[in-house]
Amino acid sequence: MEFTAPGKVILFGEHAVVYGHPAIAVPLSGLRARAWTEPTRDGAGLVIHARDLGQRLTLDGDPEHQFSVAAQAVLARVGAPEPNATVNLESAIPSAAGMGSSAATSTAVCRALAAHLGTKMSATDVSNIVFQAERVVHGTPSGIDNTVVAHEEPVWFTSGEPPRPFRSPDRCFLVLGDTGITASTGELVAGVRKRRNAEPRLYDGYFAEIGARVSDARKALEAGELKRVGKLMDTNHELLNNIGVGHPKLDELAAIVRDAGALGAKLTGKGGGGNIVALAAGVDSQTAVTQALTEAGYTAYETAFGGGT
Ligand code: MEV
Repeated sequence: MEFTAPGKVILFGEHAVVYGHPAIAVPLSGLRARAWTEPTRDGAGLVIHARDLGQRLTLDGDPEHQFSVAAQAVLARVGAPEPNATVNLESAIPSAAGMGSSAATSTAVCRALAAHLGTKMSATDVSNIVFQAERVVHGTPSGIDNTVVAHEEPVWFTSGEPPRPFRSPDRCFLVLGDTGITASTGELVAGVRKRRNAEPRLYDGYFAEIGARVSDARKALEAGELKRVGKLMDTNHELLNNIGVGHPKLDELAAIVRDAGALGAKLTGKGGGGNIVALAAGVDSQTAVTQALTEAGYTAYETAFGGGT
């Protein structure tokens, strides 16, 4: 049996969320990581076969790897010894693109391993375990990626607090546009921290401004004021440029989607490359925005949330 987990889109609040401000994220259910187990011979131990990377990881040989950290935490949670099994892993989520690939792959590994051990873990348990794995990869993550991926529903997230499901009465149509430039979350988060330590007042001001936009966006989404949501996305994008996680390609893609009629656009995730997310006024506009990106030579992904589904 196969176990899957989605990618994620941060709609508002990335980076500032690391400093205690709220953020809004939604699952990217059409792009998923999947994992399945096979029993192996006695004494083989646990092997995690990351098929896209051509890597076979073991708990002894690669104890610091994110998947080993996640697997060890599952074994500890379940109280089981290391099984003789291979966890196979594949992912359709572009890596290092701000789409939650590392949280989704760890989540799929956790679920497949737990099932192999005859247990089903709650989304909260999986999220907590994946958070430990995310620390290995990203240094000081806020916890938003593991939360939205493990719960697979739109969330209003503040670090250290239980996530709150987030409802939008209107269907919101999104388009992601991939710059094709990869970037490390750990390095970008560390870069922001370094600049913030050098200029704390300036950066704390930017984070507070981002946090205020997240709260406004929540009210606008709940009131169905999508034009206002789009404007807030544009402002959030500029604030992310101010804290140094932008990239000229991200600005270029944001301009393409705005010209194609998007209500607003911003970088999503860590930035420095990766993806923009655009809000379309409806399904026809979503198609037009996607077309503008693909005609310009970029890969685009469509998703939607809210509106009672
Ligand atoms: C990464 O998807 C989101 C960041 O805000 C980092 C984090 O929250 O851990 C950049």
